Amino acid sequence: MTEDNITFDYITRYIRRTLRQSDGIIAEMEEYAKENGVPISQPESIKMLELLIKIGNVKRILEIGTAIGYSAIRMAKAGAEHIDTIEINNDAAKVALRNIMAAELTDKIFVHQGDAKEVLPTLDGSYDLIFIDAAKGQYEEFFKHSMRMLKRGGILVSDNILYKGMTATDELVLHRKITIVKRLRKYVDMLCNHPQLETDILPLGDGVAISVKCCD
Ligand SMILES: C[S@@+](CC[C@H](N)C(=O)[O-])C[C@H]1O[C@@H](n2cnc3c(N)ncnc32)[C@H](O)[C@@H]1O
Repeated sequence: MTEDNITFDYITRYIRRTLRQSDGIIAEMEEYAKENGVPISQPESIKMLELLIKIGNVKRILEIGTAIGYSAIRMAKAGAEHIDTIEINNDAAKVALRNIMAAELTDKIFVHQGDAKEVLPTLDGSYDLIFIDAAKGQYEEFFKHSMRMLKRGGILVSDNILYKGMTATDELVLHRKITIVKRLRKYVDMLCNHPQLETDILPLGDGVAISVKCCD
């Protein structure tokens, strides 16, 4: 295991070798993200999202944390027809728009530039899937609005939930991350005990929580 990985490196390498090689704009975005240090979804996590979209016939998605539009574009290519995605960073949002135009997906992906805490109260859509992938210390805040807009039977995906293993054990916690870790633990606890949700935590990528809204 390395510091950045929640599972054994040989397992991650093996799984990644089984995934199809990216090409076209997806490969270009992966290269851009690598060169510019942009955090995009890990290959096995985005693959799982694509499968959820296909299995669940997911059409409407809300994403919190666009970055350069990588996951939004992959989710649209997997079959989503309407994606609202929120990004706080103006420069990242501009790059995302450029990528969405290049991918010819401007009729499907709508970038809302701003702090999700301010943008979310202005949205009133209803979504089949909500993907939370922004500031890790604010998941609970994002969650309140997500529950309001998630359809019954809808899927909530919360990324980076194991946070390089720190959520699971005190032994790995970096002092400067202590507040985020405490909030993530509280968030996981809340998800797993929420009366309207059924949740599982997968040791995939940086840890993914998948929840289904089983009742209103
Ligand atoms: C991990 S990246 C998103 C990656 C993207 N989902 C993908 O896989 O391609 C997280 C993004 O969330 C954005 N972000 C952080 N806090 C935010 C907030 N409060 N509101 C909206 N976006 C936020 C960051 O600027 C960053 O671009």
